[in-house]
Amino acid sequence: MNKTTLVTGGAGFIGSHLCDRLIKNGKKVICLDNLLTGSQKNVAQLLTNKNFFFIKQDVCEPFVSRKFAKIDEIYHLASPADPNVNSPVSYMTHPFETMRVNTEGTWNMCEIALKHKAKLLFASTSEIYGDPQISPQGEDYRGNVSTTGPRAVYDESKRFGETIVSAFVRNKNLNGRITRIFNTYGPKMNPNEGRAVVNFIKQAIKNESITIYGDGSQTRSFCYVDDEVEGLIMAMEKGKSGEVYNIGNDDERTILEFAKIIKKLAGSKSQIIFEPLPEDDPVQRKPDITKAKKTLGWYPKIALEKGLLRTIQYFRKIQ
Ligand SMILES: NC(=O)c1ccc[n+]([C@@H]2O[C@H](COP(=O)([O-])OP(=O)(O)OC[C@H]3O[C@@H](n4cnc5c(N)ncnc54)[C@H](O)[C@@H]3O)[C@@H](O)[C@H]2O)c1
Repeated sequence: MNKTTLVTGGAGFIGSHLCDRLIKNGKKVICLDNLLTGSQKNVAQLLTNKNFFFIKQDVCEPFVSRKFAKIDEIYHLASPADPNVNSPVSYMTHPFETMRVNTEGTWNMCEIALKHKAKLLFASTSEIYGDPQISPQGEDYRGNVSTTGPRAVYDESKRFGETIVSAFVRNKNLNGRITRIFNTYGPKMNPNEGRAVVNFIKQAIKNESITIYGDGSQTRSFCYVDDEVEGLIMAMEKGKSGEVYNIGNDDERTILEFAKIIKKLAGSKSQIIFEPLPEDDPVQRKPDITKAKKTLGWYPKIALEKGLLRTIQYFRKIQ
């Protein structure tokens, strides 16, 4: 019989790609999403599939559905994501929802996983490393995070989410693992979210000035969404309970390099301009993915230029 998989945040950017892949892999998928930052359009292609069930609901509320006697796996992705630069949207406009979903929502999902004896994967973030003092960041690094800065609602609630999952594993025998997702990009990213990749692409295809915050020397490494989804599935299937896995791409580039590559790939006439760096913006972000490579056999396969081209094509289509 098909395994039943619950994907919270399944109508979001990464969640919708994950739902696609799980359906292709023959799973029965329940997508639980309150559409705070996601959209039903992201899963429109799945709505007529007999193995796909969309439920509009907040994960902080009790989940009762008699249709599903048994849930085998829970991918808990629900949460506004982390914009790169000084985005006016996402957790900046949803600070309380962000704190609640990562704490109460995660607690609730752990309870449901226990009730169903299901495996749980919590989508944490590289933001838990804050503005890191070492590079690359391995899973053992404890981070350099402000508890009161503007990013704290996200960083600290994800950190506490990790604590909740770890306590359920240690004290209640939950089969749970944590993935720390690093910057991910690809089709279906929210065009209004204000992440660097999205901003650069939108500006480049309209030949408008490409805005860099700071001098562009801060580095990031971006993972194409298909690679990210593959990593999450490997962590669920091959990962051990209680373990943490960095899932991201270690191909590190400066933000200025990203802007130049996007400009070239889009054949754009845009100028690159510089604005002041926002508070708490990390200077460097690069995953150490040795553990995922060794223990899950996972590593990113899609080259930056190839992934960016696919993303530019998507944004041209939806403009
Ligand atoms: N995209 C990245 O680069 C990135 C990086 C690090 C971590 N992550 C994590 O990955 C996960 C998915 O991120 P994404 O980029 O797809 O973001 P997204 O905003 O596109 O997707 C998140 C989804 O969660 C839903 N959601 C939010 N609060 C909810 C609630 N209370 N109940 C039910 N649904 C709720 C939203 O409506 C949305 O569909 C998040 O947990 C995010 O923190 C993403």
